Amino acid sequence: MIKKCLFPAAGYGTRFLPATKAMPKEMLPVVNKPLIQYGVEEALDAGLSQISIVTGRGKRALEDHFDISYELENQIKGTDKEKYLVGIRRLLDECSFSYTRQTEMKGLGHAILTGQPLIGDEPFAVVLADDLCVNPDGDGVLTQMVKLYNQFRCSIVAIQEVDPQETNKYGVIAGDMIRDDIYRVTNMVEKPKPEDAPSNLAIIGRYILTPDIFDIIKNTEPGKGGEVQITDALMQQAKDGCVLAYKFKGQRFDCGGAEGYIDATNFCFENYYKSGKAY
Ligand code: G1P
Repeated sequence: MIKKCLFPAAGYGTRFLPATKAMPKEMLPVVNKPLIQYGVEEALDAGLSQISIVTGRGKRALEDHFDISYELENQIKGTDKEKYLVGIRRLLDECSFSYTRQTEMKGLGHAILTGQPLIGDEPFAVVLADDLCVNPDGDGVLTQMVKLYNQFRCSIVAIQEVDPQETNKYGVIAGDMIRDDIYRVTNMVEKPKPEDAPSNLAIIGRYILTPDIFDIIKNTEPGKGGEVQITDALMQQAKDGCVLAYKFKGQRFDCGGAEGYIDATNFCFENYYKSGKAY
């Protein structure tokens, strides 16, 4: 059973400067909730209650967010404002949180490897919190992926079709279709130019990884941008065994940039906030 979910959260959030100069990008609010809280809720809904966060310098607000604020709680105790804290209290009650710091930014693969002491030798999920995923009428994306893992027992990446001109923003896969929404991965390239892309099936920020990935990452040379890429490590795993790519049900918003962030804000306002489901 998968119990752990890793959140690489040490990145700078340069696309959102200057907002992210002193504030972690994972704390940017979508309506009234920070991005990372949506990710942790998705993880808990999938049964992953052991939350591991890879942080970095200037990210202490993340730890404070997943903690009690005595002064605040005391102030609003017994008032109608208590309802605002119901959701975050549930996370504090039902999840455990552990942290480690990535001291140098050497890529997503390196960030995931930094989380190894928190994960140990078991399969785990990875959430990139700036990809906000929603599926209001059905299972969350991680729930869908955990179900798939229980069936196939191998690493899984979530994918979506993107505009062929945009492949240079993503890890891109090629594979053999084994179900209308599942591919067995045969090739994977990090941020290829459109003319070099093996398809327009792009990896988004949800992964399930088997723990052998850590040794593979240790032996993965820096790739695109001089960084250790999880895409390259997964390609090794795909050669040896099985890596699946899953076309998830739901919508994903790229909240690392203004357009996706605004779309996510409008979506959450309409679908959660207005109907009182935002806490
Ligand atoms: C990372 C991964 C990339 C993936 C993307 C999803 O890139 O390296 O393969 O497609 O996340 O959001 P980043 O957006 O961190 O540059």
